[in-house]
Amino acid sequence: MPKILLLNGPNLNLLGEREPAIYGTATLEQVAARAATLAQSLGLELRHLQSNHEGALIDALHDARAWASGVILNAGAYTHTSIALRDAIQAVQLPVIEVHLSNIHAREPFRHTSLIAPVCVGQITGFGAESYLLAVQAMAFLLQRQQV
Ligand code: DQA
Repeated sequence: MPKILLLNGPNLNLLGEREPAIYGTATLEQVAARAATLAQSLGLELRHLQSNHEGALIDALHDARAWASGVILNAGAYTHTSIALRDAIQAVQLPVIEVHLSNIHAREPFRHTSLIAPVCVGQITGFGAESYLLAVQAMAFLLQRQQV
């Protein structure tokens, strides 16, 4: 069964209590569990990792080269700041789907720019916790298409 990495960046460990009007009330554990269940039903094994540290996210991407077929990434605020993360995405040569709970384009101007978007397959933004489920579906579609 192909494996995918769900990678969450800074402050997403506080989901459920952090600005619930923007990010919702579900915890990260609940969101990741729902994503894993959906992935399983689509024939994918999902492994989840969250870190508040830029280097740890980069390490996780590097490690994923050895075992993952693709990555679903919510880089949090590093989306808007991290050239290092962007370089890592480009370096690992895995399909990466960018995910956000909120619609980053409808928020403060500094969130409108995603440094990682140009090196990701696509971006899913603004559907709350459902963004992760849409990303799992998109990844299943993508990996199936690669096999054909
Ligand atoms: C976020 C959007 C980012 O701008 C923000 O810094 C986050 C969460 C989202 O999921 O909506 O931490 O990635």
